[in-house]
This record gives sequence, structure tokens and C-alpha cells, in this order.
Amino acid sequence: MKLTIDTKVGTLSVEDGSGRRQLDLYSKESFDHIARLWTDVGWVRKYSYGFAWLGRPIIQLPDDMMRIQEAIFDTKPDVIVETGVAHGGSLLYYASLFELIGKGRVIGIDIEIRPHNRAAIEAHPLFKRVTLVEGNAVAKETVDRVKAMIAPGEKVMLILDSNHSKGHVASELDAYADLVTPGCYLLVQDGIMSFVAGMPRTGNDWSWNNPLPAIAEFLQKNPDFEPASVPRPFDETEQTPEVDVGAAGLRRLLRRATAWL
Ligand SMILES: C[S@@+](CC[C@H](N)C(=O)[O-])C[C@H]1O[C@@H](n2cnc3c(N)ncnc32)[C@H](O)[C@@H]1O
Repeated sequence: MKLTIDTKVGTLSVEDGSGRRQLDLYSKESFDHIARLWTDVGWVRKYSYGFAWLGRPIIQLPDDMMRIQEAIFDTKPDVIVETGVAHGGSLLYYASLFELIGKGRVIGIDIEIRPHNRAAIEAHPLFKRVTLVEGNAVAKETVDRVKAMIAPGEKVMLILDSNHSKGHVASELDAYADLVTPGCYLLVQDGIMSFVAGMPRTGNDWSWNNPLPAIAEFLQKNPDFEPASVPRPFDETEQTPEVDVGAAGLRRLLRRATAWL
């Protein structure tokens, strides 16, 4: 695809397999194209690797962090279970939101919690709201251990941010989705893999081996979950919730229906 921006005239020309179209630069469609390009270039530039939350590196786009905050505040879960800890930034981000809300804790699962990461997370003032579990997220002993940490009646949100291959995401969904309390959210990260397939730092199989087909199959088998966006108390953006600037396709938010279907 070829995009040509003329800021003087205020147009965006799009050339692709279906021909050439000229758009108003300030239209929603132009914004979507530019956001998509921003996401692609940001991927190559490793933009999401440049942030920290309260001192710990967090591998997220700030736009996504804002939307996740909206989802957390919308439902105010008692527990977030997150697969994929890395440096601990996301765990501590959720813990700090819980600190503001006045309740809540986070269980973080990672196949390898490096000693320097563990030491820094455990020394953090917000560690009081965090439990670390080291192990393969889909191993039976890990799943059993995590499930035993959740008391009956606790409200649970689930965030999957570990291995993003189709098979692994499908296994995590099978293992943990039943933890999600009706009315709460299940967030599957890194749908971006399908968008950036073929670019530097990607695998040959990313066009299909990514979370999106796992989510589609999960939704077919689990009609009590549906794609969701967080209700917005204020929104003059004229953007669709799926295409927030810079975050196009990065995450898929599912909501478990309040009533069983
Ligand atoms: C993208 S990073 C997590 C980023 C973190 N959530 C953040 O926002 O800062 C992915 C992590 O998943 C972990 N991981 C990979 N495969 C895993 C598995 N099978 N079980 C648990 N964790 C796994 C990796 O060790 C890595 O730390």
C-alpha cells in the first residue's frame, strides 16, 4: 500500500490493489490508515519497549494502558490473573490502580521470573497487592495453583499476555477462561502479530499463528463470551473502539455475559 499525505491541501491518497482513492486527511478513514501505519512503524521502532510504570518496565502501548484502566474501573474486579510478567510493569500498573480503587490484587504467572526482576518486584511498595507464580501457564500444576488462590465469590478479570502463538493462547483460554466472573472482562493481548506479519522482528508464521484465530475459535465454542469495548463516559473522538490511535488490533477485549446463555 502507498499512502501519500498532502498537509497543505489536506488529503491522504491511498493506493492499493483496488486502485487509488483520495481522502480528506481529517476524515475517520484517514485517521485509521495513519493509526495503522503508526502501529507498524512503532512495531519496528520497538516503541512499546520504551515505557515504565512506577519504576518497572512495562511492555505496553500507553493507549492500551488507558483502555485497560477503563476496563478495570468499569468492573472493579477483586483479582486480576495475568499470564506474562516479564519485568513486572503491567502487574504493578494494575496493582496501583487497585491501590487507588481501594481493593484488589493481581496474580502474575510467568514461565521464568528472572532473579533481578523478582527482586525488584518484591521490593516494590505495591508488591503487597501482587502474587507471583513461576511456571508454564498452561501446565496443570500452575493452573491448579492459581485457581486455589481464588476464593469463591471473588470477581475475576483475566489478561493473557504470555506466549502469543495460536495454540498457546487457545490452551490458556481453555485453562483459565472459566475463572472470569460473569460481567467481567477477558483481555487477549497482541493481535498486532497478524498486522505486522512480514515486517522485521516477526516470524514467518505470524499471519496465522497469532491470538486472533484462537479467539475466534474460543468465541464459537463459548457463546457466553462476546467481543466487547468498555463503555465510555466521555467520547468525542468519532473513532470506533477497535481503532484507537496507535493501538489498532493490539488487543481483543471479551466480556463474559452477565447471565449464562
Ligand atoms: C510480553 S511479555 C509480558 C509483558 C508484561 N505483561 C508487560 O506488560 O510488561 C511475555 C512474557 O510471557 C512469558 N511466557 C512465555 N511463555 C510462557 C508460558 N508458557 N507460561 C507463562 N509465561 C510465559 C515470558 O517469559 C515473558 O516474560
